[in-house]
Amino acid sequence: MTLSQFLEIMNGDLANEWTHLSFYLYHASAVAGLHAHEYKEFFTEAAKGEMAHVQGFLDRLHGLNYAQPCQGPKAFSYVSRLEDILTLAIKLEEDVVTNYTQRLKQLDDLAILHPETTAYLKVFYEDQIQDSYEDCEHMRRLVAYSARNLEPQKRGD
Ligand SMILES: [Fe+2]
Ligand SMILES: [Fe+2]
Repeated sequence: MTLSQFLEIMNGDLANEWTHLSFYLYHASAVAGLHAHEYKEFFTEAAKGEMAHVQGFLDRLHGLNYAQPCQGPKAFSYVSRLEDILTLAIKLEEDVVTNYTQRLKQLDDLAILHPETTAYLKVFYEDQIQDSYEDCEHMRRLVAYSARNLEPQKRGD
């Protein structure tokens, strides 16, 4: 792999970050139910985090002279039940963790030719992995918590 091929992949990752930003922003409004107000704030905060990710990818790509970084999101699924939103969001973040773990391996292949750039990009991707991994962990706990609290009779407790 060459650095320019890696930047193409990175531009795809940027498209995905745009999609995450739109997903959280959209669902901050779409969320319905008893705790909709609190979750509106939660998803708005998540959208702010994604905005920082989008900015980070844009900065990296412009910094590395990539001609035309991606300008917006792809289509995404939308739902309004809290548990469904969280389930979709967990999947989005899990995919990011998987993809960016792969990026670290791909960057290892580039390290001989571009040691400084790859070292820097690894730190950048590691930060992204940390954010998505922790978001996943947090949202899995929210899903487990809401399952316990919304369906007590079914479980007989
Ligand atoms: Fe995300
Ligand atoms: Fe992100």
